Amino acid sequence: MAVIPVALAGRSYEVRIDAGLIDNLPDECGALLRKKTVPIVTDSNVAELWRARVEAALATGGFETAWHIVRPGEGAKSWSGLEALSDWMLAQGVERGDHVIALGGGVVGDLTGFASAICKRGCGFIQIPTTLLAQVDSSVGGKTAINTAAGKNLIGAFHQPGLVLADMDLLGTLPPREMRAGYAEVIKYGILGDAEFFAWLEDHGPAVIERDPAALEHAVATSVSAKARIVAEDERETTGTRALLNLGHTFGHALEAETGFSDALLHGEAVALGMVLAARYSARRGHLSSKDADRIAKSIADAGLRAEISALGLSCDGQKLADHMLHDKKMDAGTLPFILLSAIGDAYLAHDVALPDIAAFLDVQLAS
Ligand code: GLY
Repeated sequence: MAVIPVALAGRSYEVRIDAGLIDNLPDECGALLRKKTVPIVTDSNVAELWRARVEAALATGGFETAWHIVRPGEGAKSWSGLEALSDWMLAQGVERGDHVIALGGGVVGDLTGFASAICKRGCGFIQIPTTLLAQVDSSVGGKTAINTAAGKNLIGAFHQPGLVLADMDLLGTLPPREMRAGYAEVIKYGILGDAEFFAWLEDHGPAVIERDPAALEHAVATSVSAKARIVAEDERETTGTRALLNLGHTFGHALEAETGFSDALLHGEAVALGMVLAARYSARRGHLSSKDADRIAKSIADAGLRAEISALGLSCDGQKLADHMLHDKKMDAGTLPFILLSAIGDAYLAHDVALPDIAAFLDVQLAS
């Protein structure tokens, strides 16, 4: 088992990575479970796959379970979804010292985390992420949120979990497309800060996506270690360090907006394309070699992810994509910070990017 501490003054916690963690929940959660009935939030897909196994594991420790089951998909991360979950938690008698379990992907984790942030001004929660994307990104670091009419994740809070259990077994049932989308966030850690890990992924990426146990655990543990280091350094994204985790996200967000945040382009797929665009734009500015930009694009394409925006068949121009960026929540005093690259493994925050230049760059990319 890999155990990765997230070191935060007074709120440190562990991310444990192994196969079969959910079969040992009473021991893994230990004193975090204080009451006989454990409140668990999940979605109906995850419940169908894992509920019986979770109940059986908790029963070995004398625990019963109470389930709040939401519909799968982003729709659950809404004001009404938050209201329903908060009311349910209050009806369950959740107290500040209790921990609610979030068993699911990013939607369940973000929703449960935000409800926990505000329930009685803050109660505990445990993340048990069931997707690769949630294991390497959203379950770690305490970003919680819901979506509103104005956009995704605009209402939320920083609220750290008490424990994260990344069980490799849970990835066994994930559709291949979801594995590839999650893999985009894995490769992100190599591109932004770890050239050696990037090179390892060039050789072992297919094994990670095929869920080879040793390769998968190494990839998840390396990704989580990188995220834990960054979060410990800049928990609330104020110094620029945590912002590096947004590599590919500004371009990706524009593509997601243009495709209507639909299944046409999953978040991880948009991030993959966004990272290629960030690399190519860095090369256009003369900061990254074209050879390294091509290497990034190849590594993403080798994972079965789209690496060229022309492959999306969009009918818009670069200006329309740049306009979507104006609604990005990272807008700061009229400028939009971009994460760019000076080398593979060396990302930086650029404050001098002009959106008209981005629009012109995107016109070229859309046409190529
Ligand atoms: N997903 C980016 C972050 O946690 O900061």
